[in-house]
Amino acid sequence: MRDIRIIDFPKISDNRGNLSFVEQFRHVPFKIERAYWIYDVPGGEARGGHAYRENQECIIALSGSFDVILDDGKEKKTFSLNRSYYGLYIPNRTWRELNNFSTNSLALILSSTKYDESDYIRNYDNFLKEVEHE
Ligand code: TYD
Repeated sequence: MRDIRIIDFPKISDNRGNLSFVEQFRHVPFKIERAYWIYDVPGGEARGGHAYRENQECIIALSGSFDVILDDGKEKKTFSLNRSYYGLYIPNRTWRELNNFSTNSLALILSSTKYDESDYIRNYDNFLKEVEHE
């Protein structure tokens, strides 16, 4: 699928505890304008259910595990995230849903744009129409 990939962040292994880091343009292919995190997700709940016209993101399971289902309008792929040193890069114009959250999971999302509701495509049929000529 178009540009979607797992990013392997640096991992500095240390007996005192491990450390990972991210730098814009070096590890993620965009300028980081925003970070947000999703936590305290009740069992069985899902997040996402939309695409962005411009915003690119990288999702990291800082704690616990969850699944990310991606759809570019042609195919769907599920990624199970459960390591704090992996990120899932999601280009714009990709429908995403996050589900199957484990207890106490923590999702960190790095974004290439500031929050802008007009950048969201929240209706799946509209999404398919917007990406059909790619
Ligand atoms: P939304 O992106 O729809 O959540 P999900 O992670 O499930 O896709 O955002 C949920 C609400 O939070 C929505 O009312 C907008 C608000 N919000 C902000 O104000 N700023 C942000 O950076 C984000 C991500 C959401």
